[in-house]
Amino acid sequence: MAEDLTITTSADKAEQYISLIPQIEALLFGEPDLVANLANVAAALKEQFKWFWVGFYLVKSNELVLGPFQGPVACTRIGLGKGVCGAAWQQGQTLVVPDVEEFPGHIACSSLSRSEIVLPLFHDGEVVGVLDVDSSELAEFNEVDAKYLGEIVKLIKF
Ligand code: SME
Repeated sequence: MAEDLTITTSADKAEQYISLIPQIEALLFGEPDLVANLANVAAALKEQFKWFWVGFYLVKSNELVLGPFQGPVACTRIGLGKGVCGAAWQQGQTLVVPDVEEFPGHIACSSLSRSEIVLPLFHDGEVVGVLDVDSSELAEFNEVDAKYLGEIVKLIKF
């Protein structure tokens, strides 16, 4: 497919996701390489939404290890239950954090990050990684993001 993304200028977040999801499907179609696919998903989300940081951590030897991302440099390794990412991994659940300063144990890779959403990635019923998105705005993420980002992570095959 063409590598150019069509960016929606709609102010409605659901509309932005609805425009983006088929493009992500097309980017992933027929490509078996995990790193390539994670890299393009992170880039597509960053390009559409301009969030501060979008990226993946992958479970390796019982730690989350930094994977493909878009944004400033970030913490490399996160333990089980540590920070928002480690908690989402441990609980196997999407976590929406409207104000990172209110989340006990939040790992501040950057002081500019104010709110965050983390979704676990599953393979054969196990959490194999997380998608982490950080915003420089408070309360950026809600159930709309949880729903559509949930659809996006299901498109990634491990
Ligand atoms: N804030 C995350 C750590 C990862 S960085 O934000 C990229 C956390 O608390 O898990």
